[in-house]
Amino acid sequence: MQRGIKRVKSSFEYLRKLFIMPDSPDKFIEFGRELLEMIHDFFQEKTGIHSSITLPELSNIFNQTSLPDSPQLIKDVLSEIKTKIIDHSVKVGSPYYIGHMTSAIPYFMILLEMIIAALNQNQVKIETAKASSFVERELLAWMHRLVFNRRDAFYERHIQNPRIALGNITSDGSVGNLTALFVAREKAFPPDEGFMGVRASGMHEALRHHGYTRGVVLVSTRGHYSIRKAANILGIGEENVVTIAVDSGNRMDTKKLKKKIKTLDPRLGGENAKIIAIVGIAGTTETGNIDRLDVLEEIAHEAGIHFHVDACWGGPALLVDEYRGFFKGIEKADSVTIDAHKLFYCPMSMGMVLFRSEKDLNTIRHSSQYIIRRNSVDTGRFTLEGSRPFACLKPWASLKIIGREGYGLLFKQARRNTDLLKKVLEGFGNFECLNNPELFILTYRFIPEDVKERLYGWKREPAGSGDKKRRKAVEKTIVKVNRLINAFTVKLHKALRRDDSTFVSRTTLESTRYRPQQIVVLRAVLINPLTTKKFLEQIVATQNRIALQLWQDFRPAYERMVEEVGGVIPSTRELPGAKAAHLL
Ligand SMILES: Cc1ncc(COP(=O)(O)O)c(C=O)c1O
Repeated sequence: MQRGIKRVKSSFEYLRKLFIMPDSPDKFIEFGRELLEMIHDFFQEKTGIHSSITLPELSNIFNQTSLPDSPQLIKDVLSEIKTKIIDHSVKVGSPYYIGHMTSAIPYFMILLEMIIAALNQNQVKIETAKASSFVERELLAWMHRLVFNRRDAFYERHIQNPRIALGNITSDGSVGNLTALFVAREKAFPPDEGFMGVRASGMHEALRHHGYTRGVVLVSTRGHYSIRKAANILGIGEENVVTIAVDSGNRMDTKKLKKKIKTLDPRLGGENAKIIAIVGIAGTTETGNIDRLDVLEEIAHEAGIHFHVDACWGGPALLVDEYRGFFKGIEKADSVTIDAHKLFYCPMSMGMVLFRSEKDLNTIRHSSQYIIRRNSVDTGRFTLEGSRPFACLKPWASLKIIGREGYGLLFKQARRNTDLLKKVLEGFGNFECLNNPELFILTYRFIPEDVKERLYGWKREPAGSGDKKRRKAVEKTIVKVNRLINAFTVKLHKALRRDDSTFVSRTTLESTRYRPQQIVVLRAVLINPLTTKKFLEQIVATQNRIALQLWQDFRPAYERMVEEVGGVIPSTRELPGAKAAHLL
């Protein structure tokens, strides 16, 4: 038994009281207030973003190998939660935290979570989720309308029609994508005489019966890894997620897509593959770019292929007219996924998948004797998941509290911050922006101004130069310098993590101006409405300061590379980086 922990005598009476309300309603409210204060304190703290505790130290805290036996007082466990967990949680709501899609949330979300927990509805069936089942249908109809904008009569007929489902509320975007591809797979290998369908007979029999050697899913190289996972689970196989290269705007190269279809589709003289789905992305995870959905839609439907749009990141931007143009074609997609815990500013986690046709989810419909009976009105007949929380309350209430107009203002600020960060980075001179996002994600790297100028000079040089040998040497050196900066960026990112006063994430892209070379980049996601110009300037100044120090270790290697191709090294005093360091 742990020392210093007060144990409560186990009695059924004590436990029973825990269930109705802790002891009495007063106690419940007292604990609730204490808890809210504790949460509030967490937001007040000005310490680092990740807490200074190390991962081994955390392992030592959570190393109790035996299960708790006798009960402890709630207040003691709450206090343990504070010191062991809350104090060492990541401050994803900090205005200096601009690294991931997980960000600040409005405070009313915490209250909504309390309602969700208190009601404890299970959305799987009407017997455990009454009004909340209707809320879910209403939200799905709103979202369906937002994406597909079908006629009024369609929504009037189906908004509360229990015989069909316009979509599913899922636990996250990955399950949304899985559900979309599940439906696509069923449609690709329909049952007929002699074949009971993939669900019953499996992929092997589906391919054999329909005369294909494999089923494939096409997505760009920017595709989220959840697509691969879905292919794995659905028996399609990760190897059969065929990636198509992107253009300089990180959008699927549609010419390459057409070519690939020709090599796969037997009707066009290709190998004997069945294309199960083409996946367009509306808001790429790494770069915030949107595929040309209208072109993809045309290609997919001309070839009779299911067209899925992964709008897990960007979907909510459809709320704002200004952004709708970027999504042209989404209204003709077969399925679309959207996450609520991203641009709807809801806490973890909730996704959704919507189907243009109200009939599509019938392909995965199931029933059971004890719940979700065939003729019931249970939502669970149409979902991959079983028990589900009343998570849809969050976007449902949030759409009312914030409204389309409010989301418009939030996205305006996100756009402004994206442009601002770009400007601040350019102002420092020592950074290079490496994408042009529609949706609030900027990738860039530190590169001292003189190094950048030299690289750009070299890149221009070969075009006008007739000397083939020199051109080759220069091209090789560009690759070598980039490799060096890649290693540097990894180190810089680690140094920034150690500093912990700011946070951006990191990824590697093949689609920058140095394509096809892989370039390591810093990645900023600019959706936190609490982040203002002042914070962005501080974030960049911190990165510049730490990077300049670190570059001293890398500079000699760079200079050797320059000398190898006959370049002249400027004296240290002339270096723009040195000037910036002096200013800070
Ligand atoms: C484009 C895209 N699709 C799918 C997902 C998966 O979403 P989730 O993490 O909610 O499962 C993400 C997550 O970042 C994403 O950006």
